[in-house]
Amino acid sequence: MICLFSTPLMGVLIHNITNGGFPVKITILAERPLNCYNSGMRAKDSYDTNEGAQAFLEYLDTEAGQVHQSVLYSAFRNALGDSGNQKILDAASGPGWLAAKLRAEFPNIECCDGSKFFVDYIHETYPGLDARVVDLAEPLPYSDGEFDTIIFSMAAHDVEDQKKTFAEMNRILKPRGKLLISIANPYYAYPVGVWKRGIMGRLLMQKPKLKLRPYHWFSKTSRHYSFKKYLTGYFYKLSEHLNNIIESGFNLRRYEDLESPEDSPNFTGQYKLHRYPYLLFMEFEKSGE
Ligand SMILES: C[S@@+](CC[C@H](N)C(=O)[O-])C[C@H]1O[C@@H](n2cnc3c(N)ncnc32)[C@H](O)[C@@H]1O
Repeated sequence: MICLFSTPLMGVLIHNITNGGFPVKITILAERPLNCYNSGMRAKDSYDTNEGAQAFLEYLDTEAGQVHQSVLYSAFRNALGDSGNQKILDAASGPGWLAAKLRAEFPNIECCDGSKFFVDYIHETYPGLDARVVDLAEPLPYSDGEFDTIIFSMAAHDVEDQKKTFAEMNRILKPRGKLLISIANPYYAYPVGVWKRGIMGRLLMQKPKLKLRPYHWFSKTSRHYSFKKYLTGYFYKLSEHLNNIIESGFNLRRYEDLESPEDSPNFTGQYKLHRYPYLLFMEFEKSGE
């Protein structure tokens, strides 16, 4: 006998292979649809509300946010090499923490972001750091071949039409210019990867474990997801990220699974990044010419 139960959180199919009337096997079939908490707001606009921008700033202040900043800073710093004069655009810079750190060695760095909140924040917090409001879904307000390097950190999952955005980035890069990207690893990070403890885990005071939801499903249902209550993003498979960038005129030069070399006895960002590469770093070069 098969019974179908529907709860607010998930669809549960119970295979009630009865043995004297008792269920012997329970299988969780489906997660709630991906867009269940989604406000419908564009990712860009979600970072331009007080709540969304504050949620991201607060996250950067947490231990996980500090790990995020330290690991990403090292990856970008290494990939930038020795040429201190290069002209760099930190696209979708958010509140500008990365450009602010890099500008000591790379003074020709500037920022753009779709959130006016963050651009104002950069002007107030880092005087002298150039930043402007730019929507990466639109033609970019920069000349052909203007930059040596574009940094695109943790925002490739925020644009609705990656090919359009990457084609514009390609246009404003010099021949053989670099596109440096970090993304949340779609195989392990939210919305596929969720850290859970369950009731028994709580009772036994265990650390949460990484649970994976069906990866393929996220590209088939609505890709528009929410996290940290006020922020939204779009799910792209890793193959889609890579193919969209390559088809926009780039060659892949380097691919890195970012990790934390040190473990932590506590359930922290360091603990998670010591076990799973939930952040990826990639270096592309403008092809042709
Ligand atoms: C997760 S934050 C990343 C910020 C920063 N790069 C970092 O690594 O911490 C994503 C950023 O992308 C920006 N963004 C999202 N969609 C955008 C768009 N269409 N045009 C420009 N910026 C956008 C958001 O405003 C936000 O600042």
